[in-house]
Amino acid sequence: MLNPNNFNSIVILTGAGISAESGLKTFRDNGGLWEGHRVEDVATPEAFDRNPELVHTFYNMRRQQLLKSANPNSAHTALAEFEKQFDGEFILITQNVDNLHEQGGSQSVRHMHGELLKAQCTSSQKVFDISEPINASSVCTCCHKSGTLRPCIVWFGEMPLHMEEIEQALTTCDLFISIGTSGQVYPAAGFVQLARSTGATTVELNLEPSDGCSQFNHTYYGPATTVVSQFFEF
Ligand code: OAD
Repeated sequence: MLNPNNFNSIVILTGAGISAESGLKTFRDNGGLWEGHRVEDVATPEAFDRNPELVHTFYNMRRQQLLKSANPNSAHTALAEFEKQFDGEFILITQNVDNLHEQGGSQSVRHMHGELLKAQCTSSQKVFDISEPINASSVCTCCHKSGTLRPCIVWFGEMPLHMEEIEQALTTCDLFISIGTSGQVYPAAGFVQLARSTGATTVELNLEPSDGCSQFNHTYYGPATTVVSQFFEF
């Protein structure tokens, strides 16, 4: 296996597959359906305008599941352990809205699709930590209005977070590693091409080949708790 310690600047991209063995369903499990709704239909600003209670319920359930039953697995902790001993540049970009990387000990995490444990006030734009369910009549603690809170999640059609920093990291890294993502959602699906365009070595660690698997120089397939742990075991 390639030794990541032989590189100077590493960018990691993770997706739902790294949290699957922690008991959190991936997006495209169950054919991409949640209680009969297409996942895309509860993850858009239009869906929220149309039926805020449905969208709040979807994220409230996912938040409670994260808080009650999900713990970091050995893939999350392997990444954190690697980061601690690595003396080059390191950034971990995740599409996941759970906090299992942080719970596992990772430091340089960027949540490009937002975070389940945060809410945003659409009136003041302020972001709050939350652990309790919110709904369409929840009162915001900053402006004391009801109905202004939304999940702090980047929905389809919205701009992912931290993009400037991410593009800078991708174009200057010498190793890009994609873990547990199907490669179906842009811009994350295009990160491998961007990293390749400036000469980075590219690696895919996944349960099965992703849509963009031919873009990777090295590929290792199997459950994240096995392949990620092996890859970062130095
Ligand atoms: P997907 O559900 O599309 O893909 C999950 C990937 O994880 C697939 O490639 C699986 O093969 C792989 N996988 C499943 N179990 C695994 C395991 N135990 N070990 C390793 N890999 C495993 O999830 P994402 O690619 O993360 O966006 O989805 C990307 C984005 O689409 C999400 O962030 C979300 C979604 O709609 C937004 O909500 C904006």
